[in-house]
Formats: sequence, structure tokens, C-alpha cells
Amino acid sequence: MKAVVVYESLWGNTAAVAAAVAEGIGLGARALSTAEATGAALADVDLIVAGAPVLGFKLSSEKIRESIRVNPGKAPAPPDLSHPPMCAWLEALPAGHGRAAAFDTRVRGPWGSAAPAIAKGLANAGYGALGKPRSFVVAGKFGPLREGELEKARLWGAELAGSMQ
Ligand SMILES: Cc1cc2nc3c(=O)[nH]c(=O)nc-3n(C[C@H](O)[C@H](O)[C@H](O)COP(=O)(O)O)c2cc1C
Repeated sequence: MKAVVVYESLWGNTAAVAAAVAEGIGLGARALSTAEATGAALADVDLIVAGAPVLGFKLSSEKIRESIRVNPGKAPAPPDLSHPPMCAWLEALPAGHGRAAAFDTRVRGPWGSAAPAIAKGLANAGYGALGKPRSFVVAGKFGPLREGELEKARLWGAELAGSMQ
């Protein structure tokens, strides 16, 4: 089985979850940024897991990334804007026949989600949903991930791999 975990991540929280999901999937699954997950990396892929942060109550967009670039606020580090937003990656995703799962990272509370929008984008490209969208929670606006979230991500990855058999 070929599996890739694709992420957009400005401060590393979503990237860390993606790496843990890939570890949980095993079987050589790789975590790739939206810049890396193109062309050959996606050829004949059986499982795509895609994740992004919730920014401004929804899936991040070019608009909010630009406003963060101009005014990063009290960010502990400059945002990593070197890779495209998940929404752009989803729009460019070639049609496929594999399965897919979506996740987001966000603060705890009713402050929006991104995973359902990612799931929709994956479905639009022809990937069949494997389970429900998932969220992983950070402790503050810029992170870090709450304790136990990476372990949950690894377990989820293992579950997804199990569901593919
Ligand atoms: C400018 C900004 C806006 C945010 N907006 C939301 C939001 O609307 N809802 C939410 O749950 N979390 C929000 N967050 C928290 C992020 O979703 C969280 O820190 C996420 O894990 C960042 O992922 P990353 O480190 O992979 O970029 C926001 C964070 C920032 C910096």
C-alpha cells in the first residue's frame, strides 16, 4: 500500500501530527508538505491523509496567510509560508481512486474546523472517505500540541492502515 500524509503547517503543529500519523500507518508512509506532495509522490497512491490548521475559524486561505505574513502578532517564530495552502493543493489534486482521511489542528472550543473542508476536497478528487475527519488540539494560539495528541495521531494512523486491509 502506498500512503502519504500531506500537511500545511505554519508553526509545526500540523507537521508534527502528520509525522505521527505517518509513523502510525507504517509501511513506508511519508509525511509531505503541500509543496512536496506533487507528481510522482502522488502517483498510484492508495491512501492520502491530509491536514491543515484552523485559521480564522476555517481552513486556512491565501487571504489569512497574507494577513499573518504582514502581521504575525506574538508568534514565537516566523510562520512557514514556503509551501502552498491546503486549499490550493486540494484544487490542484489530480483525480484518483484511492481512499482518504482528513484532519485539522486547532485550539479547544467551538472556534471552527478545517478537516471537513479538506475531506470535501479529497472527495471531489475522487478519493473515498476512510472514517470521519479528526481534530488534534493545541494548548495555545501557536501551539504546542496538548499532551497525548501525538500518541492519538499515531493510533489513528494505525487504525487507518488497519481499515485499508
Ligand atoms: C492567526 C491565527 C488564527 C487562528 N485561528 C484559529 C481559529 O479560528 N480556530 C481555532 O480553533 N484555532 C485557531 N488558531 C490556532 C491554530 O489552529 C493552531 O495553532 C494550529 O495548530 C496551528 O497549526 P500549525 O502550527 O501547523 O501552523 C489560530 C492560530 C493563529 C496563529
